[in-house]
This record gives sequence, C-alpha cells and structure tokens, in this order.
Amino acid sequence: MKAPPHRFSRRGRRLIDASPRPCYLSEHFARAHQSWHPELRPDGYVSLCIAENKRMADRLVECLDAYRQVPSSVLGYDDMIGNLEFRRNLAAFMSRSFLGRDIDAERIVVLAGAGSVLEILFYVIADAGDGVLVPTPSYAGFWPDLELRDGLTIVPVQCRSNDDFRLTPALLDEAMASAKVPVRALLFTTPDNPLGRVYTREELLEILEWAEGRDLQVVFDEIYALSVFGDRAFVSAASLRQDLSERVHIVWAFSKDFGASGLRCGVLISDNDDVLRAVNELAYWSVCSGYTQYLLSQLVADREVVDDYIMRMQDDLKHVYERVTQRLEAMAIAYLPAEAGFFLICDLREHLDAPTWNAERRLWRRILDEANINLTPGEACRIAEPGFFRMCYAAESEAAVQVAIERLGRVLRRRP
Ligand SMILES: Cc1ncc(COP(=O)(O)O)c(C=O)c1O
Repeated sequence: MKAPPHRFSRRGRRLIDASPRPCYLSEHFARAHQSWHPELRPDGYVSLCIAENKRMADRLVECLDAYRQVPSSVLGYDDMIGNLEFRRNLAAFMSRSFLGRDIDAERIVVLAGAGSVLEILFYVIADAGDGVLVPTPSYAGFWPDLELRDGLTIVPVQCRSNDDFRLTPALLDEAMASAKVPVRALLFTTPDNPLGRVYTREELLEILEWAEGRDLQVVFDEIYALSVFGDRAFVSAASLRQDLSERVHIVWAFSKDFGASGLRCGVLISDNDDVLRAVNELAYWSVCSGYTQYLLSQLVADREVVDDYIMRMQDDLKHVYERVTQRLEAMAIAYLPAEAGFFLICDLREHLDAPTWNAERRLWRRILDEANINLTPGEACRIAEPGFFRMCYAAESEAAVQVAIERLGRVLRRRP
C-alpha cells in the first residue's frame, strides 16, 4: 500500500522551499576546512566573500578576558530588551563614539544581533504585504530578514554604475512608482555594504526629507559606524536632529565594529514609544544572553580599553585597505575606492564574455575553480548590472589576501 503523503504545515514547507542558499555560500562552507597555509596548503582556499573583521580577534579576546568576575545574576531572566545597566553603558558609549549626541538608555533595545533587530523592527512597523525600499547594491541578508517571516516585499532602488551608484530622490521616485505593493518604509545602510561608502550630512538629510514627504518609516542600518578609515567622518542619523521623530530608527550591532558576530548582540534606537513597546512584546524570542551582555557591558564601560581598541581597529583597517588596493593596482584589477567597512567592489566587467548574469556566474566559477578564491558575486548584492564582485579582505590573514589577489590577477590575465 502506498504511504500517505507526509503532512507538513504550509508555513514549514514555505521555509524549506524559500530561496536556496546562494552558491557562493555553499562553496564557502564546502571549502572552509581547506584554507590556505603558506607551507601546508599553498594552493588552499581563500575566502573573500564574508563581511567579517577577524583582524582584531586576539585583542578582543584579551580585553574580554579581564571581565571574568561574572555575577550570578547573568544566569537568570532579566529585561528581555536588555539589562538596564548594559543599556546605560551602551547609551553612553554609542553617544560619545558615533551617534553625535546623547541618547537615553530608555530609547535603546538590545537583541540577538542586527538580523533579529531588523526582523522584529520591521514586523512591528509594517504589515505583511507591504513594501520596503532598499537601495542597491545592498547587503544580501536584508531579503531573508524582511521577506521570510515578516512577509514584506523589498522594492529595490537601483543605483547605477554610470552615476557612481549615487542614491538620488529621482531614483527613489522611480522605485516608488514601480512598486507593486504599498511602500511603508525605507531601509538605508551607512556606511554602506558593499560599496564601503560614508554618506554626508547633506545626503542623509536629502534622503530623510524625501522619505518624510511620503510618510515613510526610515530605518538607518549603521552597523559599520566605527569601521571608518577614510577622510570623510561618519555621520549618524541620530545627529541630524534633536530627536529621531516617530518615523526614524537606528540599528547597530557588535558584529562588525567589534568583529563579534558570534556573540549575537544587536541594538535598536528609536524615539517611538509604541514601536519600543511592540518590540518588547517579541523580544523574548531573540534575547541576547545575559553572559554576553555582561561582558560587553564591562567592555563599553571600560573607556580607556574600548577607545584604544577602536583606534587600533581603525588604523588597522586603513593599513590593510592600502595594502589591498596597492596589490589590486599592481595586478591591474579595477576597483571602486572605499572609505569604510572591510570590503570593496571589484569592477570585472571587462572580463565578462557577455554583459549577462550567466556570464557573471561563469566568471565567478572560473575564479573559484582556477584560483580557489571566493568573491561575493554582485548578483547576490542585487547590483543592477553584471560584472561587479565584492571582495572582503579582513576575514583572512593579510598574507592570504595578498596571495588571493595575485591568483585573481593571474586568472583574469588568462582569458578562457
Ligand atoms: C548591513 C548589515 N546589516 C546587518 C547585518 C547582520 O548583522 P548580524 O550578524 O548582527 O545579524 C549585516 C551582516 O553582514 C550587514 O552587513
């Protein structure tokens, strides 16, 4: 007798059937255990596709090691949106280091990483079926964050290479007019991932005024706020006005600026009491562990240590960016200059055999197979045009990255 069909919920099935893991990530996990080593594996794999800064990891572990007197209170339930003392320490630290004005601890929510903050915040500020404008190129994770469980639709705002990927009110109008769903919000990242660009006060105000004129909620993702090494200083949305207003929210996390994505600690700042109350109702399912909160609270309150850490991290990023771009230039690999983050965009359009997404996939595969290096394809970042690749240069040792660029240059010189 034939077995009855396996019964499974539509929700569960939808999660399983949801967009498959992108190819570059599957290849990354398949190859990660065979990474490059100068003697043991000189042909080994070099990952240039994950936005992580591991260069300061030893220093951070050393700092955290000093806070071993963990109180037993971390074992119990606490405020689901974050321990109040931690939020006070965070408010003081974030205010003086990048927000540009004082923020009250009551305006802050702590959850398990920026991804959780985004998912819960958008659940609260929009309804299933609503649209959210996201300028592209973009961080690829916004799609699962907003679409998978929240049921929103991302409406891309396609910035173009011939205008230096600038976001303009005209492009926002164009995207808004083309949207097939009611647009409720704009999600804007500064410093930008993947362009590694910092936006000026004037640019931020222009975007904010545009969004306010259309009654949209605006979420500023400032997760790279401290990872800035160029001449232009970072400007936080918090510093634009004396208060954020009901419609503006800021997201940050320890994942990037502190290279601590595994600790899962993200932060929301909002002046909207209803939003904060609604987020509180969902926080229980995404709490940042008490132990993690304790460690990070000690760290951000340790002014001398944390300021020294940030200064060193920024100097180091500047140094590694200079070394990477020098090598790219020596190998005649075109790139777009960056001033923040730990990635840049390589412009490999001239190496495509046709101006198509299939040609981009073929080039990505050839680079992976022949050079054993993995770049993030522009398609994953929703870039409007094929041929751009993101290169993340701080998740591997400097020697490994230099070797990878040499290999990349050789593959590109060798036409297929
Ligand atoms: C712009 C941006 N926002 C959010 C995230 C997610 O961060 P988390 O690991 O804290 O969830 C990332 C991670 O790459 C990112 O680049």
